[in-house]
Amino acid sequence: MRLADYCSAEEWKRIKDFADTKETPFLVVDLEIIKQKYEELTTCFPMAKVHYALKANPGKPVIELLRDLGSNFDIASIYELDKVLATGVEPERISYGNTIKKAAHIKYAYDKGVRLYATDSKADLQSIAENAPGSKVFVRILVEGGETAEWPLSRKFGCHPDMAIDLLVQAKLLGLIPYGISFHVGSQQKDIAVWDAALSKVKYMFDWMRLEEGVILKMINMGGGFPANYISEVNPIQVYAEEILRYLHDDHGDDLPELILEPGRSLVGESGVLVSEVVLISRKSRTDLKRWIYTDVGLFQGLIETMGEAIKYPIYTEKMDNKEAEGSVVLAGPTCDSTDIMYENANYHLPHNLAVGDRLYWMTTGAYTTSYSSVEFNGFPPLKTYFIGCGKEEEKN
Ligand SMILES: Cc1ncc(COP(=O)(O)O)c(C=O)c1O
Repeated sequence: MRLADYCSAEEWKRIKDFADTKETPFLVVDLEIIKQKYEELTTCFPMAKVHYALKANPGKPVIELLRDLGSNFDIASIYELDKVLATGVEPERISYGNTIKKAAHIKYAYDKGVRLYATDSKADLQSIAENAPGSKVFVRILVEGGETAEWPLSRKFGCHPDMAIDLLVQAKLLGLIPYGISFHVGSQQKDIAVWDAALSKVKYMFDWMRLEEGVILKMINMGGGFPANYISEVNPIQVYAEEILRYLHDDHGDDLPELILEPGRSLVGESGVLVSEVVLISRKSRTDLKRWIYTDVGLFQGLIETMGEAIKYPIYTEKMDNKEAEGSVVLAGPTCDSTDIMYENANYHLPHNLAVGDRLYWMTTGAYTTSYSSVEFNGFPPLKTYFIGCGKEEEKN
């Protein structure tokens, strides 16, 4: 891989200078990059409200940065809610986007002032009506996209549009405000056309609700799905925005509904570099063509999205700079669980002269790493995170 494809020389120097003073493994998150990404996104979608999906990286400095930049927040649990509120974010800036929630948690969020809830089932809607009376609800629909997303979110969330219409009608009868419709086309979604198909369903539902039920829906929540820069090529966010805005204008003319975006991966993914060290290099037989490279991070220290070799992180080592010959490798973690193998079939190559103790830099690891890291598996501590840039230098956990 070419380092220059993943960060500028200036960004790399900032991260490297910091990383050289620390013992592996750890994640460095550069807040300057998140700031750039936020500004890029809001420039591309000036009319949309950004609700950062906290699950991607719930670090306090990330929340504080996005709070100051004017972002809103999408939470999946009351624990995330507490983290956001603790930084002084007003509850009006928070949506409760998980469709699976305990009645007591809905009440907790309501008591804290949250008034915007996602739902996709009758029982959850009923519970929102009872525990968060008068709130705005948006119904999440099932959409296509599972085939072309590297981390699909299909099936578990959302309901058929016909059922979503029933829920919106029911919401009004229950004293809630049927506010809008949401979807998520799958994370790291590479096919922009899936937004077109999803938005067509939304348009049909907006029309139906207005003409048949006399209800004017106000909002479309387009979820997340925008990509980060991993190994395989993706379009820039500007291309996503141009296409998606064209679909929206085709459907709604100049009078667009309120738009919400819930980016996670695309905002924070590229801000992170996971710094690890080679613990062991071996071959399984005298003639084995592949070297096994065991590192001090694995699936349980933040690399869970390599499961099924789904997310393919770019991996850099300084020995690549000397144009050393490379050979194919299997990359595995340090625990004694045999599922702790990151890449066996993805055809990763690393320099032949890679040695025990060399550092491996896992690029684009700012999203869905620390929050997935295990607490104590095999005794290994959770992945340490340092935040740099924007005047911060802070260690989490
Ligand atoms: C409801 C919801 N919104 C937004 C996101 C963020 O998606 P992404 O990281 O693809 O931007 C997720 C991811 O799981 C989600 O479940």
